[in-house]
This record gives sequence, structure tokens and C-alpha cells, in this order.
Amino acid sequence: MRAPLPTPRGSLTEALTEALLEQGVLRCVDADSDDDAALALWMLYELHHRGLEGVDDALEWDPALLVLRARLEHDLEERWRDRARHLALPAQERLADGEDFAEVFFDLCAADTGGESLARFVQREAETEQVLALLRQRSIYHVREQDSAMWALPRLDDETKAHLVAIAADEYGNGHPDRLHAELWRRGMAACDLDTGYAAYLDEALPQVLEQNNLMSMLGLHRRLVPAALGHLAAFEVCSSVPSKRMVRGLERLGMPEPVVEYYREHMVADAVHEQVAVRRMLGGWVAREPDVADDMLWGAAVCLAAEQETATAVLTAVRDEESMAGSREAVA
Ligand SMILES: [Fe+2]
Ligand SMILES: [Fe+2]
Repeated sequence: MRAPLPTPRGSLTEALTEALLEQGVLRCVDADSDDDAALALWMLYELHHRGLEGVDDALEWDPALLVLRARLEHDLEERWRDRARHLALPAQERLADGEDFAEVFFDLCAADTGGESLARFVQREAETEQVLALLRQRSIYHVREQDSAMWALPRLDDETKAHLVAIAADEYGNGHPDRLHAELWRRGMAACDLDTGYAAYLDEALPQVLEQNNLMSMLGLHRRLVPAALGHLAAFEVCSSVPSKRMVRGLERLGMPEPVVEYYREHMVADAVHEQVAVRRMLGGWVAREPDVADDMLWGAAVCLAAEQETATAVLTAVRDEESMAGSREAVA
């Protein structure tokens, strides 16, 4: 199943949509806003995932589109080298002082990023409508859970590869398609009467959500960024088990359908194991063999934490603003 072609959000996404549908020349225009730029990059990355409805698959390697992707990626990487520096730097310094990698990594993931947590909000105070709005935002990622990190696989040495595959085996259902995490997610969405289609809520996705997903695609697609991609993945695992437990409590408090609770219950258990494999074996093993990769791993983890904080702030602002929620519901209807 392909992603729907989203509604353009400015001059750049208008020009891109035109070029994708008509296979014409891509007009040279700048993005009108961060939103426009984030959606354009999301669309370009989607050509490497499942593809976009009505768009020729051959355009995945179209030189003009790759040039645009490179330009947007350059801006994205610069921005996040900067935004995540305050989190990554202290950890990198501790490592340079000879401290244990795993200890430094777990401490980094426990760092206070200065904002609210979505899981805590759901646990304590969210109403059902607000949880549904949050699930719609999260669905952009969960329907292709772990996919971006898998681009890293053929670029890894054998030992690191083995540990990544051990984690991925769980994410992809261990040979049972009905246990795939993306499938558990779809069952949860269906039980909540939400659209289970791939990227079904793309038009509703906040720019911060698109950016968070773009970061994962960027890290996965570039061989030079593979240590950061795995650092990001490991941080994602470390920061999942406890919030998943909070989600379970919140969803139970609201009496939400069992399949959606089950999705988070699965992550509460699985990610408590994944975080150990990811940090101690996958990353720690690689660092022991090649210490130079550690700094980028820590930066990748810092990107994960900072991007989640920006997303959480944006999603919380949106779901607390009833008018904005009503507006986004109309946009989806
Ligand atoms: Fe998962
Ligand atoms: Fe996991």
C-alpha cells in the first residue's frame, strides 16, 4: 500500500506534487515555511519507502528530485547538529574522560529535556478525544515502525548486524505477520475506529511530527550517518518501556479498547529487553572495536530525545487547543 499524495502546504510542495504527477521539470522554488519544507522532504523520502499514490516508482532515483532532497537534508542535518548539541556534548565529554559507554548512554537518555511527556499526559489527564488525536499523529511513524533503521543493515559489520537483527526480529513479528508491531498498531487503530491505511493521517500531521520522521529517514539512508542511526534507535528503545507503561495506565483509565492497550503493553515488555541489547551489545560492542563511532551515536541519541521533546510539545499544544483539534478533524473528514 502506498502513501496518499498529501495536500500541498506551500509553494515547494505544490511544485513537487506537480513534478511527481506529471513527471515534468521540477520548478525551482523555495519553501514558504518549515511546514512546507518538512512535508516536501517527507514526500521525497516516501519515494524510498512505499511510494506515493499515482507517482511513478522510477522517480525514486530522479536526479532533480535527489538534488532537492540533498538540499533539504543539508538544512535538516545542520539544524539538528545544532539543536541536539546541548544534550550530546556533555555525554561526549564524559566519554572522552574515559567513562563507560553504556553508563554515559543511559544517563543521556535519562536527561531532562525540559518539556512535558506525552505518556505522562495520557496517564494522568488526557481525555479520549485527545488520545485519539495523539494516536493519529503517532500513526505516521508506527505504520512503518523500525523501517528507516533497517537501511543501516547492509552497511554494518557482522557483529553489529547480528544485534540489530535480533531487535528487528521482534519488531517484525519473529516470522508471524500478525505479531508485527506495525500490525499490532493497526489493530489498535481499528479498535478505536481510526483509519488503518498507510499514512492515512498525513494531512493532519504536524510539521514537528514530519520532521521527527524525516530525521529517522535521513539517518538511515546515509552510510556516513549509520552510527547516529543506531544511536537514535537505541535511544528510542531506552525511552520506550517506561512511557509505554504510562500509556497502558492512561488507556486503561479511559477504558480504551484492549488492542490499543495491547500495543503499548507489548512495548512495555519488549523494549525493556531491546534497550539492553541495543546499548550494551549493538552500540557498546561496536564502540569497543571502533571508538570513533561513539560521538555520532551519542548525537543520534540526542537527536531522538530532542525531536521527541519538540514533537511532544507541539502535539500537546494541538490536542489541548480544541479549535485546532476541530480544524484538524475537518481536514481529515
Ligand atoms: Fe516496536
Ligand atoms: Fe523495540
